[in-house]
Amino acid sequence: MPSEAARIAILTVSDRAARGAYADRGGPAAEDWLRALITSEISITRQIVPDGRESVASALRALAGAGADLVLVTGGTGPAPRDRTPEALADVIDFDLPGFGEAMRRASLAEVPTAILSRQGAGVRGQTLLITLPGNPAAIATCLRAVFAAVPYCLDLIGAARIETDPAQCAAFRPAAGQGRARSQTAPPHR
Ligand code: MTE
Repeated sequence: MPSEAARIAILTVSDRAARGAYADRGGPAAEDWLRALITSEISITRQIVPDGRESVASALRALAGAGADLVLVTGGTGPAPRDRTPEALADVIDFDLPGFGEAMRRASLAEVPTAILSRQGAGVRGQTLLITLPGNPAAIATCLRAVFAAVPYCLDLIGAARIETDPAQCAAFRPAAGQGRARSQTAPPHR
């Protein structure tokens, strides 16, 4: 039975990219990374919003409400005055998944000492997994590589779409006992 395409949304958070002062590089980098990795059917949308708690939170609510299975957010995770992506994430999720931020910082710290400034994380809203990444394209790849093996199983557990990955790039790890949880066993989606 052919399965539905997984719906993936990429949200770039940047004042300058939103007003066209420079081209968004993070969103396309995240999309390229996913397209090289995921072998099952996917649809990817991209959007840019300015930094700030309210602009990011309302975009996240809209994307989850529209049925995204996975939302990747890039940018706004540092400590600068306009970096409020983590606060926006906290405003919209039902619960957080702290292991994502831990793994991303561990991998990034092996590359740059300033990774300690990053506040990346992840959480679940209804049947949507939201992951926040840094804005720098090289940092995005490092962070996605650090966490992505667990993403397909997480999507299974929350009742989102099933995705398959190219094992040569990053093998999806699914513990044998927990596969294929039905959507009815999970929390209802937010309206
Ligand atoms: N992680 C990696 N792998 N490589 C980097 O260059 N930059 C750090 C950090 N994580 C970096 C990284 C810096 S300088 C900051 S401020 C934070 O990510 C937040 O980045 P953001 O504001 O673009 O979200």
